[in-house]
Amino acid sequence: MNYQQILKEIEKEIQPSLQKGKVADYIPALAEVDPNQFAMTITLKSGEQFSVGKSQEDFSIQSISKVLAFSLAINIYSKSLYKRVGVEPSGNAFNSLVQLEYEQGIPRNPFINAGAIVVMDALMSHYGGDYLALEKILNFARDISANQEIKFDSTVAKSEMEYASRNLSLAHLMKSFGNFDNDVRNVVQTYFKQCAIVMNTENLSRAMLYLAFDGTDPINGRSFLNELQAKRVNALMLTCGHYDASGEFAYNVGLPGKSGVGGGIVAVVPDVMSIAVWSPRLNSYGNSYAGTLALQMFTSKTGLSIF
Ligand code: DON
Repeated sequence: MNYQQILKEIEKEIQPSLQKGKVADYIPALAEVDPNQFAMTITLKSGEQFSVGKSQEDFSIQSISKVLAFSLAINIYSKSLYKRVGVEPSGNAFNSLVQLEYEQGIPRNPFINAGAIVVMDALMSHYGGDYLALEKILNFARDISANQEIKFDSTVAKSEMEYASRNLSLAHLMKSFGNFDNDVRNVVQTYFKQCAIVMNTENLSRAMLYLAFDGTDPINGRSFLNELQAKRVNALMLTCGHYDASGEFAYNVGLPGKSGVGGGIVAVVPDVMSIAVWSPRLNSYGNSYAGTLALQMFTSKTGLSIF
C-alpha cells in the first residue's frame, strides 16, 4: 500500500474540517495554540514512518498519557488495581462527577479523569511519592518513544492547576469513599504534570508501537507489557478511549484509540502499525474534530480496521 499517498489524500481532504470545533480553553495555556494545525504519522513494524503536516510540532498529549500511566499500573498491581478502578465504558463526559457518587467512589475506567487520578494515586503509593511517580511515567514515555528528550510542560501543568476545581472534586469524592491514599492536591497536581507531557505525532506514533505488537517494541525488542496486558490496554482504548464518544469512534474508525484535549489521538492497528494524529480543535466530547475524521478516512481508504 502507498501509505504516503494515502496520508497526502487525507491531508488534502481534511482541510475544510480544520476550522471546525473549538480548542480546549478550560486549560488557558492550551487555548493559546494555533487552532488550525494538522499532523498525522504512522509507524510500521520496521520503524519506517510516514507523515504529513506538522509532524514535528510538539503538543500537550493530555489524556493520551493515561494509557502510559495505566500500562505502568497494571504491571505493578495486576488484578488488585480493579478494586479501585473498573473497566467499563462510562457513557459520561470525561470529567463527570455524578456516576462517581452513584458508584461509591470507584471510577468506571482508567481513562476518565477520576480513573486516571486514582491510577496516579496508586503509582505514588507504589513509587513513594509524586516526584518518583512522575519520573517513572516520563521515563516510560522516553523508553516507548525511544527518545530521551521527552519532557512535560510546567506552564501547561500550572495553568491547569489554577482551574482544577472539578478534578479536585473528583479526587475528594473518591477520598470520601476511602478510594484514595495520598494528599488530594498533590496527586491532582502530579496528574496534571503527567497530562502536560509534550510530544509530536512522530514521537507518539513511535511510542504506541508496543501496543500494536503485544506489548513488545518490534524495533528494539524491549518488552513493556506481556501479551495479555497489551490485549487489556487495547480493549480499554477501544471501549473507553473516547469517553462518551467511544462507541462512535469504534463505529466510524474501528481501532483501539485514545484522545487528549490537546487535540492528539493515537490509534493502534494490531500487528501492523501505530498511528498518531493531531489537530487542536475539539468536538463536543473533547476529542479532536479533524483528528477523528482523519482516522476515519484512513481506515476507510486502507481497510485497516479491526473489524
Ligand atoms: O484533567 C483534564 O481535564 C485534562 N488534563 C485531561 C483531559 C483530556 O485530555 C480529555 N481528553 N480528551
